Amino acid sequence: MSAKKRVLSAIQPTGEIHFGNYFGAVQNWVKLQEDYDCVYGVVDYHAMTMPFQPNKLRENTWSLMFNLVALGVKPENLFIQSLVPEHAELNWIFNCFCSYGRLQLMTQFKDKSQQSETKSDGFISVGLFDYPVLQAADILIYKADFVPVGKDQDQHLELTRMIANRFNLQVDKDYFVLPKTLHSDAPKIRSLADPTRKMSKSAGEKHYLSVFEEEKRLRKKVMSAVTDSGEMIGTEEMSEGVKNLFTIIKACGHTDVHDDFMTRYKDGSIRYGDFKGAAYEALLSLNSKFRENKEEVMANKKEIKYQIKNSSAEIRKIAQQTIKEVKDLTGLMNVKF
Ligand code: TYM
Repeated sequence: MSAKKRVLSAIQPTGEIHFGNYFGAVQNWVKLQEDYDCVYGVVDYHAMTMPFQPNKLRENTWSLMFNLVALGVKPENLFIQSLVPEHAELNWIFNCFCSYGRLQLMTQFKDKSQQSETKSDGFISVGLFDYPVLQAADILIYKADFVPVGKDQDQHLELTRMIANRFNLQVDKDYFVLPKTLHSDAPKIRSLADPTRKMSKSAGEKHYLSVFEEEKRLRKKVMSAVTDSGEMIGTEEMSEGVKNLFTIIKACGHTDVHDDFMTRYKDGSIRYGDFKGAAYEALLSLNSKFRENKEEVMANKKEIKYQIKNSSAEIRKIAQQTIKEVKDLTGLMNVKF
């Protein structure tokens, strides 16, 4: 085993990767690959917790994989969750280390169950309720030291540490590492159309910007971003919409442009049209590079699929070892391999 610290993170195959996913998490995934032992999952079991189409799930999983590779994630660090069924086994064991009352406090469950009530037939699955426990299994099965995620995942990480702690107490051993959350400098990107909410796919098309967005659509969405009527310019205050655009420009690496517009905001000479234009240019510089990379990746689809099946099998070995140890520690039976 390598002496490097381990990083684990994951993303759901529920559609495109947006700039919230990218700045909040995936950009960090790419950087961390240089210094850490990184394991990144496309978590298809999680994508079953909301209404889904079986014939689309597999397609979405592969397309998300190709997108991650186009963004710079190495295929050897990637795995598909359902190719490592031990996640589901540890999920069951952890169900017995997590209280019902604690799960009821999860805000993402509250948000998503409300969406289910309004958008579909009102069906809310036990899977949706139990999802944070599966997330704890995803992390702890690899004994990860660090978990790079956006701010929306803080509560799930806290629950993960709680489960690890309870398990360690029960078996009277510091078996599981308590994983630390890693945030990027832009841990929460807001919707451009409604900056009171986070950028997300589930809120609808106008609430997110795909990292591969077609140029015209990117321009249209950025130029129609909600800011404010201008009365705050030159004051200490800043609206969420304006703050969000500053965050985005900086996250794109356009620091000089960011600082220049900040000076103009403070001295009262900023014009929001120019400011949005600068945000568009900053996003476009990344977006055009990503679209180019994507073309290359799509030309090597077969090879990448093969690599990811292999890396999933390699990564599975770590999960199998953990399950063996957990069964030993908890009095469950182990099949001799
Ligand atoms: P998911 O698929 O919703 O999002 C993937 C990653 O993107 C981050 N993110 C954001 N960051 C900043 N601003 C936003 N607007 C924004 N929207 C999303 C998320 O924080 C996440 O890091 N439960 C997880 C998936 C998961 C997981 C795990 C993560 C399952 N098991 C184990 C880490 C470790 C989720 O639904 O992410």
